[in-house]
Amino acid sequence: MNAPAHASPAITTTGGVAIPQIGFGLFKVAPDEARRVVEDALDVGYRHLDTASVYGNEAATGAALATSGLARDEVFVTTKLWIRDLGRDGALPAFDRSLDALGLDHVDLYLVHWPAPPLGRYIETWDVMTEIAESGRARAVGVSNFLPEHLDALDDHGLPRPAVNQIEVHPENQERHLRALCADRGIVVQAYSPLARGALVEHPALTPIADAHDVTVPQVVLRWHVQQGHVVLPKTVSRDRMAANLDVLGFTLTPSEMAAVDDLDRAARIGADPRTFTGA
Ligand SMILES: NC(=O)c1ccc[n+]([C@@H]2O[C@H](COP(=O)([O-])OP(=O)(O)OC[C@H]3O[C@@H](n4cnc5c(N)ncnc54)[C@H](OP(=O)(O)O)[C@@H]3O)[C@@H](O)[C@H]2O)c1
Repeated sequence: MNAPAHASPAITTTGGVAIPQIGFGLFKVAPDEARRVVEDALDVGYRHLDTASVYGNEAATGAALATSGLARDEVFVTTKLWIRDLGRDGALPAFDRSLDALGLDHVDLYLVHWPAPPLGRYIETWDVMTEIAESGRARAVGVSNFLPEHLDALDDHGLPRPAVNQIEVHPENQERHLRALCADRGIVVQAYSPLARGALVEHPALTPIADAHDVTVPQVVLRWHVQQGHVVLPKTVSRDRMAANLDVLGFTLTPSEMAAVDDLDRAARIGADPRTFTGA
């Protein structure tokens, strides 16, 4: 493999775990295509892979990693605990299954995928996650789709804070309050669906900014994320778009361009509502 060292700077958790800022998302990458996709992603320079048990592509991700020629510690690997496995009895076997599928003895980050508050199991689950971290089989543990009330509940139970909260963030759903709260509490924000699943490609407020820098609209959006200082997880199956999405460090948005993107927020979440979603 002729992969360059990852160009992406690192964001470091309060526990000292460095996370490459631009990661590669694997949601909706079909299992039979995932091996090629991950091989391409590693080859163009990604050093951070974001999968989940529910994506069905952990095994293909692990297979691509195993034959990449890269050392284990060169690639940051995240997977996630699905909702049906919440709770003490479900979480430990689910974690073992994920490690088996990936063919790894540890992951870099293990996340509770959704709090699913109606099920009433996320507090108990978080307790198990901290035990997994203590065992060394996950270098860091965190949560995903946790709103302020869910983070507050962990605090109220005297539990350690998550290293990471992975949430839907893009120009039309900026989650400023939640991001500020995470920053206050030393929780790294990871932005999922950072390109609003491709919906912003022809946005009229973004095309002039892209033209001014001779880049594409997705590159403007990803640059905006990078300048916000959070981790960002674009997904694409196209090798050319993978390379373009990683190539956002050679230009800088001006304060007025950042402000123009900030103005696009309309609290338009694409994904499910974390208050009610139980995976059904
Ligand atoms: N924790 C959670 O609950 C959660 C939820 C959703 C996502 N995630 C994570 O976040 C990752 C990214 O989110 P996402 O997959 O929902 O959406 P996304 O990255 O915002 O957008 C992906 C879509 O944009 C297209 N795209 C990507 N780069 C492009 C480019 N340069 N030009 C034009 N179109 C482009 C892709 O199409 P092509 O593939 O055809 O290029 C795909 O349809 C996921 O893969 C997953 O790892 C986590």
